[in-house]
Amino acid sequence: MNATLERWSTRRAFILAVTGAAVGLGNIWRFPYITGENGGAAFLVLYVAFVLLLGLPVMMAEILVGRAGRRSPMQSLGYLAGQAGASRHWRLLGLFGAFTVFCILSFYSVVSGWSIEFFVTAVNGGFSGLGAAEVAAGFEGFLADPRRMTFNHTLFLFMTMTVVAAGVAKGLERLNNLLMPLLYLLLILLAGYATTTDGFGPALTWLFRPNFSAITPVVVMHAMGHAFFTLAVGACALMAYGAYMPERQSLPRAAGAVAVLDVSVALLAGIAIFSVVFSQGMDPGEGPGLMFVTLPIAFAELPWGALWLSVFFLLLLLATWTSSINLAEPMVATLQGMGLGRGKAAAVIGIAVWLVGLLSVLSFSALAEWRPLFGMNAFDLVTTIPTEIFLPVGGLLIAVFAAWVMPRQVAQAAMGVGEPGFRLWQAVVRWVSIPLAALVLAAGLL
Ligand code: PHE
Repeated sequence: MNATLERWSTRRAFILAVTGAAVGLGNIWRFPYITGENGGAAFLVLYVAFVLLLGLPVMMAEILVGRAGRRSPMQSLGYLAGQAGASRHWRLLGLFGAFTVFCILSFYSVVSGWSIEFFVTAVNGGFSGLGAAEVAAGFEGFLADPRRMTFNHTLFLFMTMTVVAAGVAKGLERLNNLLMPLLYLLLILLAGYATTTDGFGPALTWLFRPNFSAITPVVVMHAMGHAFFTLAVGACALMAYGAYMPERQSLPRAAGAVAVLDVSVALLAGIAIFSVVFSQGMDPGEGPGLMFVTLPIAFAELPWGALWLSVFFLLLLLATWTSSINLAEPMVATLQGMGLGRGKAAAVIGIAVWLVGLLSVLSFSALAEWRPLFGMNAFDLVTTIPTEIFLPVGGLLIAVFAAWVMPRQVAQAAMGVGEPGFRLWQAVVRWVSIPLAALVLAAGLL
């Protein structure tokens, strides 16, 4: 029943598992569109700064707690708090994380379902010969069809919960070993092709020449939220994976490798996508449809375009699969920690997420104008609030727990480094990450 039983088999497997969690829609779908909506390079600079100062140190904190506790996130927090003589209420942070991933998974599954649809269409050659306007119209038509969207959402969630029910470590390892290198290679190819297009120059300017006047407190908050989202930090999801981390492995090195891979995937995707945007005279601020509309057009111009496009959507689908498995894990681990069998826990969570996901599905048709809060519809709410508020708040509390509450010896042992390295991490978390996150949250919310 206890997570102590399972372990990733090698150090590489652990790094790939965390990379699998990190690399997903956040890099390939969300990064380009949110960068497009928030002014390009200035946003990119902020995002990279947040990854370094906040995302990476907090990622280490989160994995460290899981590794020291070797239980489900909630139980690990409770156990370690008790050991440190602190309040057992720290357990509630695990519950908050489970709630956060619940919200995220509800839309994540729907958008991953879009990749299923696009994969199938690409395999059938459904994009060949289409121009920009036709691809965009096709996408609109798909969004307006709740039945097709629900079908894909259901299929994707089913794929996710089946692996989670079987136990994460074993199921995932094989998938990760093959998938990550392939996806990376394909993105390099795509970005290489982008260098030959007219839009490449403008794309580089847009991505790398910052106009700092575009920065407002809200943009800063978007950038912080995205840094957490893309690294999969702040929801105790990586804490759940940390529990399966091998004994002898340096945590900072593993986390650093993941961050580099994660950011570079986003940059490659950004270069490829914005080159198409500018070659085709499209609007970079077009929103959540950006990737789905640009890539079919880009691939259409390549020899064997339909084949490449199919491979791309397949790899994207697999990347989102490994992320969604990570999203589901803390919830299932929590229920399992409460005594439910793994299969049952996966079923209960799957059904609940499926139901709430229907709100996202219908946000593009029947419920498009239903705006329950802040003038946003259900899809906008669930893609914004959990990422930009819940993840940073969760990350902040995890950081406080690891850097202030846990006894130094326990934390240092779980970090797997010597004293100077540990002290450096602790100082960064205490005096940079925590105050920075608190400041941005306060400035964005007040
Ligand atoms: N990092 C994942 C992505 O970029 C999303 C995710 C967020 C996964 C939070 C786990 C926890 O697609």
